[in-house]
Amino acid sequence: MQYNQSEFLFETIVPKNELIVSRTDLKGIITYANETFAEISNYEVDELIGKPHNIVRHPDMPKAVFDNLWKSLKNDGKWSGFVKNLRKDFGFYWVFAEISGVYKEGKLVEYKSIRTPISFENKLFYQNKYDEMKKKNGDFVRTISYELYDN
Ligand SMILES: Cc1cc2nc3c(=O)[nH]c(=O)nc-3n(C[C@H](O)[C@H](O)[C@H](O)COP(=O)(O)O)c2cc1C
Repeated sequence: MQYNQSEFLFETIVPKNELIVSRTDLKGIITYANETFAEISNYEVDELIGKPHNIVRHPDMPKAVFDNLWKSLKNDGKWSGFVKNLRKDFGFYWVFAEISGVYKEGKLVEYKSIRTPISFENKLFYQNKYDEMKKKNGDFVRTISYELYDN
């Protein structure tokens, strides 16, 4: 995929008062997305169903975060963490995601994720943390420096 750097600069602010939900099968293929999740991701619900959930993966996210996500889901049946997602228009949004199993008659059938907005301070913290993780791993890090104040 080709990226134009300037397109990454547009942040979508996640609403506080709405549930942002998706579900996947056990391999991470999207089986359900609510309107709010589709809207903040700049997709139609129909475009998301049947696609791997990495359709919203942002290139700033270190691979290790998702390795940990899948390991936790397999071992503990749940995971939560801070995620920067990519919109279809190449903008981005930050969420705190809580993923857990969906059980039918005691059997794990799907995973569901519920997302909530995060603070500006957490966005700065996790952007820097994920940049550092990528740097340590020798991955490409987009050159961004956040400065809260001029002096
Ligand atoms: C229920 C559920 C929700 C997920 N939500 C996201 C998400 O919002 N953003 C994301 O990048 N990955 C999400 N993932 C993880 C993806 O399946 C995938 O592992 C990740 O995007 C990394 O892509 P890769 O596995 O192709 O490297 C979710 C997984 C599950 C099971």
